[in-house]
Amino acid sequence: MERFKNKIAFVTGASRGIGKAIAERFAAEGAKVALVSNSNEDLNETVNEFQALGYEVLPILTDVSDANQVESAVERTVQEWGRIDILANNAGIAWEEDFLEIKDDHWRKMLDVNLNGMFYTAQRVSRQMVKQGEGVIINMASTNGIVGEHKYAHYNASKGGIVLLTKTMALELGRHNIRVNSVCPGYIQTPMSEAIDDQEFVDEYIRTKISLSRVGKPEDVAGVYAFLASNDAAFITGTEIIVDGGQLAQ
Ligand SMILES: NC(=O)c1ccc[n+]([C@@H]2O[C@H](COP(=O)([O-])OP(=O)(O)OC[C@H]3O[C@@H](n4cnc5c(N)ncnc54)[C@H](O)[C@@H]3O)[C@@H](O)[C@H]2O)c1
Repeated sequence: MERFKNKIAFVTGASRGIGKAIAERFAAEGAKVALVSNSNEDLNETVNEFQALGYEVLPILTDVSDANQVESAVERTVQEWGRIDILANNAGIAWEEDFLEIKDDHWRKMLDVNLNGMFYTAQRVSRQMVKQGEGVIINMASTNGIVGEHKYAHYNASKGGIVLLTKTMALELGRHNIRVNSVCPGYIQTPMSEAIDDQEFVDEYIRTKISLSRVGKPEDVAGVYAFLASNDAAFITGTEIIVDGGQLAQ
């Protein structure tokens, strides 16, 4: 399938994990992909891997929590390829911390990357899409944007913010022919979730919480991004799709 032939995708957090799988899926279906990440080492590895597969990619080292860097990354992509058709706004961080112990600078860091970074990227890319008269934006939220989880007050607040940022963007940008949705994954196996090194906890989590009895793969999420970016989702905007193996069904 070449659903995204001649399309330009801009993927943040593209150097590993879910973002890498999203970038790969768009590239495999014909898109040219700007790979945005703050991790030079991962980015180089991913670029080499993608180029060996014949994908057309543009690596851009960027910290999404810095609005100026985000602006330069958007400009660079437009200079190179003339437009941005798809934004996969995915970069994010997470760690656990008791609510009563969260330091102010930890709170700010989480919100700076996960929510402010998402806003800077979404707004700067949207301005380009308004000029084009079309575009699709998919913001990475989480099941933690819908229900709470112990020890993740800062993360949960950032993801809840993304769900409503998405809805408001959809309301304001629909008249410009720009669709905006969010995706809410549950437990997905990536370097981020591998930080949980307690196998007993993970096994119990799968047994008691996930209806499909397994954790998700980055590709499970990438497929949903591809659907939302495609014409099959032409009448879908302002909503969230939960990709959690049935976790929130109970
Ligand atoms: N893994 C899960 O279980 C899970 C579940 C729900 C939501 N998510 C969300 O999915 C997204 C990707 O998570 P993942 O599991 O692939 O994580 P990951 O840690 O494996 O990858 C994160 C990516 O974001 C990039 N990144 C981090 N901070 C950045 C910054 N300041 N500027 C630019 N890039 C930055 C990293 O370089 C990396 O490429 C995150 O938004 C995360 O909150 C993950």
